Amino acid sequence: MICLFANTATTDSSYDENKMRVCILFGSPRKEGNTAKLLDAFFEASPENIAFDTFSAFQLNAQPCDDCGYCKTKEACIKHDLDDFCDKLEKADVFVIATPIYLMNFPSPVKAVLDRFQRYYNARFFLKKRLPIEKPKRAFFFATSGADDNEKSFEFMKNQLVTSFSVMNTRLTDCYLAQGLDNISIENDLEKIRELSKSIFN
Ligand SMILES: Cc1cc2nc3c(=O)[nH]c(=O)nc-3n(C[C@H](O)[C@H](O)[C@H](O)COP(=O)(O)O)c2cc1C
Repeated sequence: MICLFANTATTDSSYDENKMRVCILFGSPRKEGNTAKLLDAFFEASPENIAFDTFSAFQLNAQPCDDCGYCKTKEACIKHDLDDFCDKLEKADVFVIATPIYLMNFPSPVKAVLDRFQRYYNARFFLKKRLPIEKPKRAFFFATSGADDNEKSFEFMKNQLVTSFSVMNTRLTDCYLAQGLDNISIENDLEKIRELSKSIFN
């Protein structure tokens, strides 16, 4: 595995301006499952000057947003379990969400993180901050699923991301769905995602 759980999180002291900073939200509980293979194949062919900050949604185990209203009064969340993640996300050039599809949607630990992006919505519309996240970033979204008819779910999930990203200075530019994996091997998709990676990074 190239980037997953390799403790590759950069710190401010080791921050290298020449490196592209990639923040990954990994949505599977399985470290060597389909999603991990897909993500790994994608970054296999990527340039070397990348600093990865990889977060497992299942390990983060984010507390759900309970609409307490704190982020309507201050540019922060009253809960601190996502402080490091949000810090790395805000500094990233690229944000990647790689996740299995559970019940036609994001697994609940991923959805919990997405709901917590409400702080940026409130910063934009209640605190009138023009750019709740200053650094512009592009985003990639990769999903895997067992059945082979998940196009609608994938579209809906993309819409959820685009909605969140609209106040996060983040543009969803590239997506990939590997589906039908209950019956076919992921090998074909690995080739395709390597090609996507080359087309993005080369
Ligand atoms: C709780 C749960 C719900 C799932 N729901 C769906 C689903 O709605 N549609 C589908 O096609 N596959 C579904 N699957 C299958 C996974 O999406 C599929 O096996 C995926 O590739 C697993 O990725 P992973 O190996 O990275 O964990 C579900 C799996 C689990 C464990």
